[in-house]
Amino acid sequence: STDAVSAVINVDIEGPKISKHVYGHFAEHLGRCIYGGFYVGEDSDIPNVRGIRLDVVEALRALDIPNLRWPGGCFADEYHWMDGIGPKEDRAVMVNTHWGGVEENNHFGTHEFMDLCELLETEPYISGNVGSGTVREMSEWVEYITREGDSPMARLRKQNGREEPWKVKFWGLGNETWGCGGNMTAEQYAMDARKYATYCRNYGDNKLYRIAAGAADADYGWTETLMKQLSHLGCQRVERPLYQALSIHYYTIAGDWNDKGAATVFTDDEYYTTMLKANRTDELLTGHANVMDLYDPKKEIGIVMDEWGTWWNVEPGTNPGFLYQQNTMRDALVASLHFDIFHKHADRLIMANIAQTVNVLQAMILTDPDSGALVLTPTYHVFQMNKGHQDAASLRVDTPAGVPTREVDGKELATVSVSASRKDGRLLVSLSNLDAGAAQDVEIDLRGGGLGDLESLILTADTLQSHNTPEQLEAVAPQKHDGVTLDGSKLRVHLPAHSFVTVAGALA
Ligand code: AHR
Repeated sequence: STDAVSAVINVDIEGPKISKHVYGHFAEHLGRCIYGGFYVGEDSDIPNVRGIRLDVVEALRALDIPNLRWPGGCFADEYHWMDGIGPKEDRAVMVNTHWGGVEENNHFGTHEFMDLCELLETEPYISGNVGSGTVREMSEWVEYITREGDSPMARLRKQNGREEPWKVKFWGLGNETWGCGGNMTAEQYAMDARKYATYCRNYGDNKLYRIAAGAADADYGWTETLMKQLSHLGCQRVERPLYQALSIHYYTIAGDWNDKGAATVFTDDEYYTTMLKANRTDELLTGHANVMDLYDPKKEIGIVMDEWGTWWNVEPGTNPGFLYQQNTMRDALVASLHFDIFHKHADRLIMANIAQTVNVLQAMILTDPDSGALVLTPTYHVFQMNKGHQDAASLRVDTPAGVPTREVDGKELATVSVSASRKDGRLLVSLSNLDAGAAQDVEIDLRGGGLGDLESLILTADTLQSHNTPEQLEAVAPQKHDGVTLDGSKLRVHLPAHSFVTVAGALA
């Protein structure tokens, strides 16, 4: 038909590399994310290695997850790492005041986290405690984990059974320091960030990538204050820049913070509002990047969006402090839209971490508290279908005649979203049709190279509310897609209503 969206991709003009770390993850001591999710303890009937669930590890390895952020979130600024080392029976117990007021026995600590990262073959990202910790405490944590040779903290690590230092590059200087991480002003925190950055040392060839706790939503003033603090350093010997990235947090909700909306029960209007709010990520990344460009035109400081995703009301009957929510086809489209936006911002966006990997917020994996059964969510499948974009060269997608739009809450929402990349001689195109009820074709003119060996997958479902459960594991699961044709340079892709499609092929 003539109403296909026309797009153009020059497959031989490479844009900035899409950092694999934008496919990053986040695991907080919150609800059943760590305990019951990742970690069940050595005595559990659930198959585990040193207490870590094997099925969870296997499912996440299939996503090639590039990094895992831990231990929070808000929890990070209450966490004292020394409570989580040494014999488990001797570890101090604390109250997890943010998340349900439950007791935390510290059985999952530094060694267990590093063990998990090794099993996942993923890079650790440790979020240090600024809110209630000290500069010394964080500095010693870096020494404990990364220092080779003889030193007080290296000796302590060896006493606890780990001879070799680990490598940890990504280091967070506090979390949401404007809120749960200390309720600071931007000026106050910027002073702290300078100090913490100074005393988090590089040991041997472990070069830290220090991530200063950045803004919420559109607080561009916060970003500006942190950027200003990177200059005017007195000492010539100090590493420049002092911190290498700023974080940003943004969550997608349909309602307001008092009533965020239900995960599985929503109208089409609420669905479109959700997509409009998800799309705001583009505006926020642009806004923060514009401020950063003024102080750092060479784009040396990265943006790390280390919390993003949907945040719904908890599932009825579950602990309100545990943030357990279901995950539908709507969540999958929120994820696919975010990835298109992330690919577009590849020049500055170094990392992004969905909140959170298991049993919390927009999870990849849900585990049944009684049977232990493991459910892969629709969001999981988007990560899997898109993993070929990791560390690939971004390709610009032009739509000269525009894409269909829809008026939502007084604003325009584009209902078709496309992004593309190339890596190792292969093209990967991701396409989302956000329209709840209408199909849409997209015709892409591929310029600068031929394409062969087409493979296409589709993720869609009967309804936007469809989701997976232990009884129905594959209500939303990827299928082979046969709605793709290639005629010369014209790639035509059929997108059913509310669907996510990937097309891959060998470039010639
Ligand atoms: O991801 C849940 C919480 O959301 C995190 O602990 C906090 O950083 C944010 O407010």
